[in-house]
Amino acid sequence: MGEILDAPHQQTMPLLTPYKMGKFNLSHRLVMPPMTRRRSWNNIPQPHAAVYYSQRATNGGLIITEATVISEAARGYQDTPGIWSKEQVEAWKPIVDAVHAKAGFIFCQIWHVGRASTFEYQPNGQAPISSTSNVLKPQLQANAEEPAKFSPPRRLRTHEITLVVNQYRLAARNAMEAGKYFISSFDGVEIHGAHGYLLDQFMKDHINDRTDQYGGSLENRCRFALEVVEAVANEIGADRVGIRLSPYADYLDSGDSDPTALGVYMAESLNKYGILYCHMVEPRMKLVEESFETTESLLPMRKAFKGTFIVAGGYDKEDGNKAVAENRTDLVAFGRLFLSNPDLLKRFELNAPLTKHNRNTYYLPDPVAGYTDYPFLEDTA
Ligand SMILES: Cc1cc2nc3c(=O)[nH]c(=O)nc-3n(C[C@H](O)[C@H](O)[C@H](O)COP(=O)(O)O)c2cc1C
Repeated sequence: MGEILDAPHQQTMPLLTPYKMGKFNLSHRLVMPPMTRRRSWNNIPQPHAAVYYSQRATNGGLIITEATVISEAARGYQDTPGIWSKEQVEAWKPIVDAVHAKAGFIFCQIWHVGRASTFEYQPNGQAPISSTSNVLKPQLQANAEEPAKFSPPRRLRTHEITLVVNQYRLAARNAMEAGKYFISSFDGVEIHGAHGYLLDQFMKDHINDRTDQYGGSLENRCRFALEVVEAVANEIGADRVGIRLSPYADYLDSGDSDPTALGVYMAESLNKYGILYCHMVEPRMKLVEESFETTESLLPMRKAFKGTFIVAGGYDKEDGNKAVAENRTDLVAFGRLFLSNPDLLKRFELNAPLTKHNRNTYYLPDPVAGYTDYPFLEDTA
């Protein structure tokens, strides 16, 4: 009597506690964030992606797909998946099914690269579009000796912006194409507003040099991204929409003179649309993969945003647990750890060692190597 039967020997890790994200009952706090893998030959998702995502799917766990282009003109890299054509939508279905078969959730990250492109990727060899006509400087890239070079962009004319907003809307509709209640539709979409791509090219004042209502003030620079949020939310329901932002990142020369003001303004503005989640990249990730010392934090945005908050960038089990325990976030994304540990959740649960990622195989076109051949715990035992 008085004894607590079945008392857990140790306290449950904060990352392993359930969380209700809107209508989605998540059974733990680990998120697999978007990671481009460039194995979607000719922009068509391939069957090997079903294996890859299914390996990483868990019951009640959230996966966000690699960035997925919304139109031909949205492309800037070889073999990234698309979601603008019927064939692409059909090709996504077995991948989505494979995640649902494991009772996981999967959101599609919808993407337009803007000026991070070249004439070769553009229909009829046209100029890529952006907020500006300034060309992006050549950029060093993982797994390549030569820096990536870009073509001079064309500044979008004011009246053309609604056309691009519409492409995001259609991509979101395509992601829901099979109907909300069918097993093969995505559970929602994540608007890619991070890392110096099109929406970020409007938000960040180091790039945006416009003088119309989409440039100048913070409100003006954020207008395009918020129009996309509104259009996508109206199309598929705000309860299925997330956005990714990286106000502090400088990737693809996307710096801003006041990232905190930008992040807070976006977090507050997003509340108007009642979207499901805001996924923010930590200030320490100035570049996508490199961590820097900083005193800045995402707390002001966490406090400002009313929906689910997801943090990403440089997390391991320990500081992920800490972030949840201290209520600095609801969910934590683990990018490279998920890439190289398909059974990451289990490894966290068992406190098992982790496999290190191999940068050289990130973007190989190979359907297996560096993709679906990372070991499971059983294999290493
Ligand atoms: C190979 C690779 C591809 C990535 N592709 C994307 C992408 O498509 N979209 C995106 O928003 N972030 C992308 N990222 C960034 C990750 O989502 C994540 O923010 C980053 O890896 C930092 O988190 P980590 O320290 O947990 O790995 C990519 C990162 C890697 C390593």
